[in-house]
Amino acid sequence: MSVLIQIELLMTVALFLYGIAYAMARNKNKYHKAVAAVGFSMDTYGTMLMFQIKKGVWMTGILASDVHTILSLAALSLFFIQLTLGLTRKIKWHRRFALRIFFPVWALAFLSGAFLAH
Ligand code: HEM
Repeated sequence: MSVLIQIELLMTVALFLYGIAYAMARNKNKYHKAVAAVGFSMDTYGTMLMFQIKKGVWMTGILASDVHTILSLAALSLFFIQLTLGLTRKIKWHRRFALRIFFPVWALAFLSGAFLAH
């Protein structure tokens, strides 16, 4: 299987897992953390594969590629804020952050990646 297909699969499954985690959380299912953590592992692994393809070059000077890199790294970092808000039980902010910040940035990173791949 080509690395590009592996990345597409990893990121699509990560997207579903984050969505499932959100739906589980809304249904008061405490295991949403575990599902989110698996999503994050796939997200991180997919991002590492992309970084390998780029041979360690962070910024290419190609606008679409650099925007995607910035959005992807931002989305990964935002997960830690989401995690911290959950662990410190700031649940109102944890819920708001998921919907208004984490998901939108993650979705933009995903869509910009899909745009680059095709
Ligand atoms: C792995 C990191 C995460 C931790 C440690 C965590 C922790 C928590 C905790 C402690 C709660 C309170 C309810 C409960 O005890 O289950 C909660 C609720 C919630 N979490 Fe997370 N969470 C994490 C990831 C996520 C992610 C990635 C999302 C979004 C995709 C999310 C969305 C929510 C929502 C929407 C609620 C509120 C549910 C309600 O309306 O009552 N969480 N989380």
